[in-house]
Amino acid sequence: MEDIRIGIIGHGFMGHEHEKMLTVMDGYRVVGISDIDLKQLEDVKEGIKRYHSNEELFQDPEVQVVLIAANNNQHHDLALQAARAGKDIICEKPVAMNLEELDDMMRITRECGVRFTVHHQRRMDPDFCTAKAIVDQGSLGDIYTIKSSLYGFNGNMHDWHVYIREGGGMLYDWGVHLLDQILFMMPEAKLTNVYADIRNVINQEVDDYFKILMRFDNHITAEVELGTYYLTDKMHDKWFERHWFIGGNKGSAYLDGFSPEGKIVRTAGLLQNAGDKRTMTAAGPTRSFGPPPDGKILTEPVPEVNTNHKDYFENYRKAYWGETEFLVQIPETRRVLALMDAVRESGRTGQSVIFEA
Ligand SMILES: NC(=O)c1ccc[n+]([C@@H]2O[C@H](COP(=O)([O-])OP(=O)(O)OC[C@H]3O[C@@H](n4cnc5c(N)ncnc54)[C@H](O)[C@@H]3O)[C@@H](O)[C@H]2O)c1
Repeated sequence: MEDIRIGIIGHGFMGHEHEKMLTVMDGYRVVGISDIDLKQLEDVKEGIKRYHSNEELFQDPEVQVVLIAANNNQHHDLALQAARAGKDIICEKPVAMNLEELDDMMRITRECGVRFTVHHQRRMDPDFCTAKAIVDQGSLGDIYTIKSSLYGFNGNMHDWHVYIREGGGMLYDWGVHLLDQILFMMPEAKLTNVYADIRNVINQEVDDYFKILMRFDNHITAEVELGTYYLTDKMHDKWFERHWFIGGNKGSAYLDGFSPEGKIVRTAGLLQNAGDKRTMTAAGPTRSFGPPPDGKILTEPVPEVNTNHKDYFENYRKAYWGETEFLVQIPETRRVLALMDAVRESGRTGQSVIFEA
């Protein structure tokens, strides 16, 4: 199979990441890179063209696929230009600032007959894939809660991330990944209600904390919580990384860290219809709390997964040559944007929002 020839727009943090990955992966060739700030192109790797404008990239017949890695508020216009130049598109997340922009992008890409997908590579994160494998294997029984969280210590944001007009704030930054993961984990479930608390705890303009509750028609409530200023001095348990808790009526599971450490946990002392029977724990008589006696808590390893971000582009290559579907379908990203709208509405009103009635 010939190489897929890529042009990257935006040579900031993510543009560099894409350049690094796609120059070593089989099946890809990075043809050239553009950036409105020409200084950003100074360290483009040898053998890759440095365009003086995006237009030059769009006009380059060598480029088959445009990978948009510019600021969030640029995605819409750049995607339209790429589509009109006949290029296939991989767009960074969030695919657009709002549904109106995305609908426009869907219409124009359809009219131009180009392929369009989004870089939601966090569907390949080992912590998420492990959590999904636990849910899929069903050994926790009826799941009642899934909690996904991420905490940071550095609070304030940088560059364009501090401006609403450029698509800054944590909901657009990490929120879109965390929500996409929850919806991707349970694609068949209808999301009925959404409640959100969104704050700017220490940032002036953009959100830096959110707690989002999502109630599904499969009786699971998913909670996503992120705080960039959520401090502790407990450095164990990978505090400043990802965390998952999944609770079912036959056991729980927890995961800590991007390379997750965790266990499936069950109890040998589950009381069934115990009436007024007393239970003794090491802390004294109690029915629900206190440290369990030795031997009551049983653990099992979590399923092993072997995934990484490269898998996103492995899928893209196969899908590009017609061997499979793109991992990220545009209607899925539309559902995530619609969810973000509901999250904002709930954050603004303090009321729960009916999502998919
Ligand atoms: N998928 C992920 O895990 C992930 C991680 C980080 C960032 N991102 C996304 O990648 C995109 C870029 O984020 P970043 O952190 O790399 O930002 P960044 O500020 O480091 O880089 C953005 C670059 O785009 C350039 N740029 C802006 N407008 C442009 C335009 N119209 N034409 C050409 N170049 C333009 C800027 O000059 C800058 O060099 C954002 O959409 C962000 O959400 C995704």
